[in-house]
Order: sequence, then structure tokens, then C-alpha cells
Amino acid sequence: MAKSKSKQKSKTDVHRVSTSGDIEVSTYLEIAKEISGEQSIAAREAAPGIEREAIVVIDFGSQYSLLITRRIRECQVYCELVSYDTPWEKVAPLNPKGFILSGGPASVYQAKAPLAPAYVYESHLPVLGICYGMQVITKQLGGQVAPGAKQEYGHAILHLSDADSPLFAGLDDSPPVWMSHADRIEEMPPGFTALAYTENSPVAVMGNEDGIFGLQFHPEVAHTPQGKAILRNFAYRICGCQGNWTIGNFINDSITNIKKLVGKGKVINALSGGVDSAVVATLIYQAVGDQLTCIYVNNGLLRREEVERTFKVFRENLGMNIIYVDATERFLDRLKGVVDPEVKRKVIGEEFIEVFEEEANKIGRVDFLAQGTLYPDVIESAASGSTASAKIKTHHNVGGLPAKMRLNLIEPLRYLFKDEVRQVGLELGMPEEMVWRQPFPGPGLAIRIIGDVTKEKLEILRSADFIVMNEIKKAKLYRPLWQTFAVLTDVKSVGVMGDYRTYGYLVALRAVTSEDAMTADWARLPYDLLSRISNRIVNEVSGVNRVVYDITSKPPSTIEWE
Ligand code: XMP
Repeated sequence: MAKSKSKQKSKTDVHRVSTSGDIEVSTYLEIAKEISGEQSIAAREAAPGIEREAIVVIDFGSQYSLLITRRIRECQVYCELVSYDTPWEKVAPLNPKGFILSGGPASVYQAKAPLAPAYVYESHLPVLGICYGMQVITKQLGGQVAPGAKQEYGHAILHLSDADSPLFAGLDDSPPVWMSHADRIEEMPPGFTALAYTENSPVAVMGNEDGIFGLQFHPEVAHTPQGKAILRNFAYRICGCQGNWTIGNFINDSITNIKKLVGKGKVINALSGGVDSAVVATLIYQAVGDQLTCIYVNNGLLRREEVERTFKVFRENLGMNIIYVDATERFLDRLKGVVDPEVKRKVIGEEFIEVFEEEANKIGRVDFLAQGTLYPDVIESAASGSTASAKIKTHHNVGGLPAKMRLNLIEPLRYLFKDEVRQVGLELGMPEEMVWRQPFPGPGLAIRIIGDVTKEKLEILRSADFIVMNEIKKAKLYRPLWQTFAVLTDVKSVGVMGDYRTYGYLVALRAVTSEDAMTADWARLPYDLLSRISNRIVNEVSGVNRVVYDITSKPPSTIEWE
């Protein structure tokens, strides 16, 4: 595809590194501890008795590279994304069964165009080049790529010239595919034949006897409905994968690894109420039981009933060790008079670390810090050359933080996507309500109150937020929507209630759909539902006399208002 990841990002979203409510917390912790000597474990070993296998996606910078990885995992084959300049020593431990070369923004005939590392061909493993990846194969194996006379973007119909190719097993005769390319294959490399064509691409799919294939279209996107079948065929029929990447295997293996690593050591984990830290805690608890202590800091910026709900699951249902700290007063004191959103974040981050360290010190010797880092965060950090913590650090300018904790990291979810984390949570028996929780920002309600944060405003916002959640859940929209919440603005306007003139707050309602929080669209909520939410808020929440609905998408807006 044409745009690179870096081009897509505007300067302003650099600091918004997370798609998860948990990362903020874990990042603060990461900043607080000494990174040196860290030992991070993540379970990507195959379960005992099962042969390790993986498809490795070589990344040339397409915005869809991660999606390819995800699609392959959906076929129950383990898959990782690595940059095109990754050395073999880093790839070999995955025991690759095949390579996929991603799309990318470059042109192979440009000087310094990125190419596939030699091991891709020297390993004699199957290779599937997608779009730019196909052009890379063509160039490296002796064919010719030329600028397309006609650019081809959007839908096309694929006509199979060799319907017997294992790549096409089970496919319809003329499946629709999604094209996005300018360059095209002028001459295939020696030994290759065209396996399918479209109106504008005589070589839409090519292949040779050694299991090297090229696709001019994008099988990973939803606009290629049978694309996943092609990827599955590649993984199973061409690479010979067994499909042992299952959530059950992942859990068993993680537990074994965590036990081995932790031994008799002690682990701490910051619970945030979010899915990632909750799944991490549950997984580690299953592995080492009471050697795990969770620290749950109430920063006074949580939603109504949040603390109770979290406790119910972790302490009552699972019986975990939890240290609960109600630090509301400390946080609110520090936030007094702070209106700048970024200063709010900084203050909250610093206070969190102080509280966390105080509590951790009380436990005595601790060896490990568990974190809910997810795969997209890992990729994002690698791509930008900085860790999530570095970004938040720069952004918050959190210099000179105490760095007393010398802990090793345990990041059992480091190689998982969010949907896989949810599956792990469900398989571990966590309640659906927790597993499907919408993301909630680390700084909590503080960044949903425009202007300074006071107890009175927090109560108003909690009441409004509670109504929004209640109605959205009743309408069965909680899960399909990425996030839904109320924002307490600093605008006051005139209203009339009964015979009285009122002068009250304006509450904004935000509901968005999104895949990953990088982009989002405002949700087309039914009018009746909007009306019910608005009526209930103005009737039940004193101090509010007007509700508006935010109909901007991201970009150009952000999901949160601050
Ligand atoms: P924006 O507002 O940038 O939000 O579109 C993208 C996603 O990130 C969440 N968000 C945060 N999460 N700390 C967090 O842990 C933060 O400071 C923060 N700011 C935004 C937001 O809720 C959305 O899911």
C-alpha cells in the first residue's frame, strides 16, 4: 500500500502510544525502574511435545504488515513481524516454516530500496511476496519490475489461470481482491509462471516450483474476502504448518515458563482494572500463586463501582493477594488548579510511581515486575526506535524519576494481540465483563474533565458516565463500540427546568468505533438512544442542563478530549 506508517502519523499523536488503559500504568513503572539488566520473558515457545513453528513476515513498511501477522495467527499458526534488516540469528529461534514479504511504500527500482535478506532465499523455505514483496522477489530473482502504465487501486476480479495451485485450494473461480499498486511485473523471474490475472495485471499471482509465490493484491485486508483462505493455504499446504498456535497451548506454555523463571521469587503487578493487567495477573497467579502480589492504586479518578468490581474478581473470586491503596486525596491534592492536560498526565504519573514504590517497599524483597505489554506496543516501539516509556517520558518530561526498583520484567503477553489477550482471559475463566472492558485511560477521569479537577466535578462526571454505560450496555452496544463515555466540559450554559432558569454544565457524549485507536469514527448511535441518555443525564445529574454529541472522527480529532 502506498502510505508508510511514519507518514501516516501526525506529530500530535506521537504521545498517544497506547490502545490500552493499562499501558500508562506499566509505562510509569518501566520508567521508575532500572532498565539495565532487565530480563523479559514472554511465552512464545511451543508447548512441550509440540514442534515449534512460525511464519515470519518480513516488514517493508506497509500499514498492513501487522494485519498479515494477525491473519496468519487467526489460522492458528504462530507468526511474527520482523524488519527487513533483521539478522538470521534473531529469526532462527522461531523455527520459521516460511516467509511472507510484506507490502511497502518504496519502489524496487529506487536507489536503496529495501530488499529481502539473503536467508529468505538461501533457507529454501517457501516465500510469499505481497505487493511490494512480490516486486522484491521479481527483482532479486532476475525478473523485471516497471512503473505501471495504469495504477490499480481498489477492487479487481481475480481470474485463476492455474486453479490447481495449492495456493488456491477451496477458492471460488473469480474472487474479488483488493489492489493497491503502481509498479507492475514486466517480466517474471526465470522459472516462474503466472497463476492468475486481473484486468489490469497480467501477472496478479505468480509462482515457481520451489514454493516461491507473489501476489499483486492484498490478501490480508477485509476487502479481499478470500484472502485469509490464501494465507491459510500458504501456511498449511505450502509451508506444511501444523497449526499449534492455540490459546490453550499458549496458556500451558506460559505457566510452565513463568514457573521456571520465577522459581521461589516474588512478583508484583500493578492492577489497573483493565484487561491486560488483569490477564497478566491471572496468568501469573495460576503459575506461582501467592508469590504474586498485586498493587491496586485508587487514584480517585476511577469510574463509579470500578474498585468494587475489580475487587470482586480478583480478591473474592480468585483469592489473590491484593494491596489496595486509596490515594484519592494525594492525587486530588496534586491536581488542584492543574488545567493543562499534559501537566495532568505528568502529575498523575509521578504520583503513581511514588505511591507504588512506597507500597512495593513495604513488601520487602521483590524480584519481578509483571507488565501487560502487548505485541502492537512492541512493534510500535521497534519501528519508532524508542520504547513506549521513552515516548511517554519525553512527552511528560518525566526527568529524574526515582529509579530504585531493580526488578526483572515479566511480560507474558508481549507477543499477543488484544483479541488474543481477550481469548486468554476467557479461557482462564475471567468474567466476560472484565475481558470485554472498553479501554480506559491511565489518567482516568482527569482527562475527561476539561479544566481543573475537583471532587464535585468528578462526582458529576461519574454520574453522567454511569448513565452512559448503563444505556449503552442495555442497547447491547458496549462490545461493538470501541469506547463510549461522557466528558465534563468547562462550558456552562443557560437552561430552563420547570419554572426555573438554570445555569449548568455542558456534558459531551463520545462514542466511537475503532480497530486500534489509531483512527476512529464517531458511532451512528440511534436517535432514541441518544435522546434517552440526554434525558437521563439532565434529569438525574444535578449541575448538568445540556448534553451534546461529538460527531468528529479521528483524525482530525482524538478519541479523548484532552
Ligand atoms: P486519543 O485520545 O489519543 O486516544 O485518540 C487513543 C486511545 O488512548 C487512550 N488514551 C490514553 N490511555 N493514558 C492512557 O493509558 C493516556 O494518557 C491516554 N490518552 C488517551 C484513549 O482512551 C484511547 O483509547
